Amino acid sequence: MAHISVKQILQKKITGEKIVMLTAYDYPLAALLDESGIDIILVGDSLANVVLGLEFTNQVGMTEMIHHAKAVGRAVRRAMLEGDMPYGSYKTAALAVKNAKRFVTEAVCGAVKIEWFPGCEKVASAIGKAKIPVMGHVGLTPQRASELGGLKLQGKEAQAAGAIIRQAKLLEKAGCFSIVLECIPAQVAAMITKNLRIPTIGIGAGANCDGQVLVTYDLLGLFTRFHPKFVKQYVNLSDEIKKAVGQFFSEVKTGKFPDAEHSFSMDPQELKKVKVGGHT
Ligand code: KIV
Repeated sequence: MAHISVKQILQKKITGEKIVMLTAYDYPLAALLDESGIDIILVGDSLANVVLGLEFTNQVGMTEMIHHAKAVGRAVRRAMLEGDMPYGSYKTAALAVKNAKRFVTEAVCGAVKIEWFPGCEKVASAIGKAKIPVMGHVGLTPQRASELGGLKLQGKEAQAAGAIIRQAKLLEKAGCFSIVLECIPAQVAAMITKNLRIPTIGIGAGANCDGQVLVTYDLLGLFTRFHPKFVKQYVNLSDEIKKAVGQFFSEVKTGKFPDAEHSFSMDPQELKKVKVGGHT
């Protein structure tokens, strides 16, 4: 089965069909997301927080990202698979192309994503020229959260909003096929969406984007260390897991598990011949 292409993603901007994107970091979850029919699966550097227990996304590098992207790549048959370029991996155009190629050749990714920094248009353009589709990311860019005053709403004042709009335009001009808008006022996201030819994908950016992305562990209630306002939790898997583990715990303690159904038995005639302490 062919993966969803850049052309198909661009087409959705024209038809108005919303783009659905989620993150994955491992084989089983990626398979479930792919089977659910979503458009884009991002191996996000949110891997750092939600899977590896680190505090900041800039604490993961190419080694961790490629390791997880490979696992996700083994499961994804239909969605576009995208690798999130980690902090430090796209400082220069040459480094960016080298690392973007690793996502494509080692982890079968069909695209990569970079977060905005001054001058990143050159990086985006170099990746594009290497024939690797690239998605931009503006607004709250977690890799540089410390420079942005923390993980908080960006573009609240007119000047800051204007800067984000310019960044999005620059990334479009540089050849990005789509842009993530993170944690900005809905009105600013709507303006960007209206003024770009490429699709916008919002996270904490209101309803008027061309698509939406969430961190899957947030949506599933598997990551509870912090809870941004823009996250909607659709199920509480943490509670479900604790319930199941609690049941296993008590069944092991009381001897209820394993029962005959979950055990193997030997033919009684054969069993008689078994010598305890005998030679093999
Ligand atoms: O790393 C990530 O999960 C992301 C998404 C929030 C877009 O960049």
